[in-house]
Amino acid sequence: MYGMVNKAVQDMVCSQFGEDQWEAIKKKAGVEDELFISHEGYPDEITYRLVGAASEVLGLPADEILKAFGEHWVLKTAAEGYGEMLDAAGADLGEFLVNLPRFHTRVAMIFPKLKPPSFAITDRGERSLRLHYHTHRDGLAPFVVGLLGGLAKRFDVEARITQIADRTQGADHDEFQVEW
Ligand code: HEM
Repeated sequence: MYGMVNKAVQDMVCSQFGEDQWEAIKKKAGVEDELFISHEGYPDEITYRLVGAASEVLGLPADEILKAFGEHWVLKTAAEGYGEMLDAAGADLGEFLVNLPRFHTRVAMIFPKLKPPSFAITDRGERSLRLHYHTHRDGLAPFVVGLLGGLAKRFDVEARITQIADRTQGADHDEFQVEW
């Protein structure tokens, strides 16, 4: 994944747990990079190793780390670096999520080697919808839950996010029911 992702993991750990913890996590993960370059590609394995090491060092389940990371991604990483892009994608949660399937097409203009997730929306109600998440990567559904939680905070609404299909349990893809 692009270095921006690892950089954001670093930023989340440093701001929420401190620099010392980050150094310990990097050491445990066997990652020697002094810094990550946002627009350079890194093997996905680096990101997975960082998340695994963060889970051990901080004593939190990896799913919790991924959730916290998803929130941080929306509220800090994307908001600070790509605010206009987020603004253009919707003025409320419903509008944003309806536009989400097209979102990474625009991201790919900045990151041409992006291997983006793909999203689809079905069962749209007034304040609810079903979000389908397709990816060629494993284990990132909790990241999506965190991203959705971050979006709810961004739009200042209480949202209930329930995973209703789980690829790790044999489903074809992950599905989330989102109500707000
Ligand atoms: C301006 C905001 C955003 C930017 C710049 C951005 C950019 C990226 C980048 C660089 C990656 C790594 C993929 C790669 O390097 O191949 C990524 C992955 C991902 N993004 Fe975004 N993204 C943004 C917003 C969002 C939002 C709002 C969501 C969903 C609610 C989202 C969902 C994901 C997911 C789930 C992945 C993991 C990759 C996978 O599932 O295979 N992103 N994004």
